[in-house]
Amino acid sequence: MSHILSSVLGVTMLTKRLLIGVAAGLTVLAAAVFTLLLARDPGVPASANVALAGQITSTEEGPMEGVVVTAKREGSTIAVSVISDAQGRYGFPAGRLEEGRHALTVRAVGYDPEGPLHADIAGAGTASVDIELGATHDLEAQLTNAEWVESIPGTEAQKRMFESCVRCHTLERVMRSTYDAEDWLSVLERMDGYVTSAFPGNPQRRPTDEWTPFANRSPQAQEARRRQAEYLASINLSSGARTYALKTFPRPTGRSTRAIITEYDLPKLSTAPHDAEVDPDGMVWYVDFGQQYLGKLDPRTGEVTEYEVPEARPGNPTGILALKLDREGNPWGGNMFQGSIFKFDRETEEIQVWKVPDELEQPKGTHGTRIFQVNHAAPESSHVDGKVWLQNRSIAGVHRLDLATGEFETFEPFLNSTRNSHNLYGIQPDSQNNLWFLDFANEHIGRIDAKTGEIALYETPTPGSRPRRGEVDPEDRVWYAGFGGNVIGMFDPRSGEFREWTPPTPHTKPYDTFVDRNGDLWTGSMYTDRAVRLIPETGEFIEYLLPETVNIRRVFVDDSTTPVTLWIGSNHGSSLIALQALDE
Ligand code: HEC
Repeated sequence: MSHILSSVLGVTMLTKRLLIGVAAGLTVLAAAVFTLLLARDPGVPASANVALAGQITSTEEGPMEGVVVTAKREGSTIAVSVISDAQGRYGFPAGRLEEGRHALTVRAVGYDPEGPLHADIAGAGTASVDIELGATHDLEAQLTNAEWVESIPGTEAQKRMFESCVRCHTLERVMRSTYDAEDWLSVLERMDGYVTSAFPGNPQRRPTDEWTPFANRSPQAQEARRRQAEYLASINLSSGARTYALKTFPRPTGRSTRAIITEYDLPKLSTAPHDAEVDPDGMVWYVDFGQQYLGKLDPRTGEVTEYEVPEARPGNPTGILALKLDREGNPWGGNMFQGSIFKFDRETEEIQVWKVPDELEQPKGTHGTRIFQVNHAAPESSHVDGKVWLQNRSIAGVHRLDLATGEFETFEPFLNSTRNSHNLYGIQPDSQNNLWFLDFANEHIGRIDAKTGEIALYETPTPGSRPRRGEVDPEDRVWYAGFGGNVIGMFDPRSGEFREWTPPTPHTKPYDTFVDRNGDLWTGSMYTDRAVRLIPETGEFIEYLLPETVNIRRVFVDDSTTPVTLWIGSNHGSSLIALQALDE
């Protein structure tokens, strides 16, 4: 039985219909077109002339390597960044900066420029701006989440609570607060009431029956919460002063300085672009984690178009987590608390929504969440058998949707598990549409055979690795980010072998992985603001510090450009970021 929803021309009213065997798209939604800007292709010309160059120095260090310099033309939504080399020199290739006055900013922990910087870019020739840096007056504002975690006193177990906080905002907000333990009890209670995708730019609340207020919790749970409140009061500014030294990580060196980074602002600050992926025409698609939008960026112009995704369960929290393209390049999304998935047809611009039937929501109290949370749809191999996999957090399981009949099958790998918690999270089909899934609560990856339905579980070498999201490559090898174990890993089903690597910067806690056409493995961090590239044959890591706080989740590499382009959504920064390594 299928549940297909439609709405016509952007009208918010939804017509719920029960239809069997209808697969055609039913919905047309008006597109909102935003500013049109002129920028250049993200590709870097081979024999690049230089539009803007200079040297970065400080009295403390002399020439400074690894300083991220960003140029943004007045009124533009596009910012371009490069990183200084061992001589402190930076250079923006010609063709990458528009003509006009650019504001210049830098990222170098511990340092700030003496005053505002700018550069005037003309049609030809090289503008020259040397930059002198001095000690910053506000180091706390410059720390990454990882540097905070490294600095604050406490055990690993105590610090684990920050895994929750960083989903929604930086730790600076937490550490600069002045709350005492009693205050923290009510602040944490307020935090509990936000939906998973809330952030200060879009503070959406959870339905009240979806979480338990402090007063109704068990004595043990209340005690655990009190200990958290006391811990927070011991590390923030409630005593009036910082009681520990702030530790900072070294700036990038060598290969980590050879990259060009382009950041495209999205039209609304409330947008939280969770996943981004590039279609065969070079358009960058993204989904809004907190709101009902699918968006499209044309990186050649900076133009952004947003499409409203109909709500399958009006009144439930809004927002879309994962975005994946099918073989035709059509975007699909997992609409979380709407308990639905959708497909956007690039040709007709129609959105088709499939609502997971009510009876497939988990009765309260077992492994999953209390209400539907469909984070992921996986249509990549649906052309093989006409079926699309989707994840259902409420049952810690997956469904398989038959596109011809609209029927949902259910698979619950952990139904008989004796462990008290499972979180079947990232899902990825192989070339034959067999499904690989990751248990974000523990340390298993698993496979569902498309033909027999047989389920197999494989344990990662690192206990507590908490595989979060990943990829199946064209050779059907499985790559995963072990958030809890601070590893990125690979499982080869043919040999049964695992390999795992740990990124060098502490507390990277990888979220996702992607293998590019050169065989390099990419990941990113919600903690370090670094995009991470691993060359698996040599084990060499290259980490690219981004120009600002980013909160990297999904990583996607566009293999069609030279060099390849890494795309990231800045979840709390309402922008899309493209990074190209210049030493491929
Ligand atoms: C699900 C999202 C979410 C999570 C998880 C979350 N927060 Fe927040 N937090 C918010 C939002 C939204 C705001 C801004 C609105 C507000 O203050 O309620 C905020 C604000 C704050 C503030 C500033 C409040 C003030 O009055 O100045 C503090 C402090 C804070 N959070 C601490 C924490 C800590 C500590 C954690 C982790 C244990 C945490 N938050 C987890 C969403 C979240």
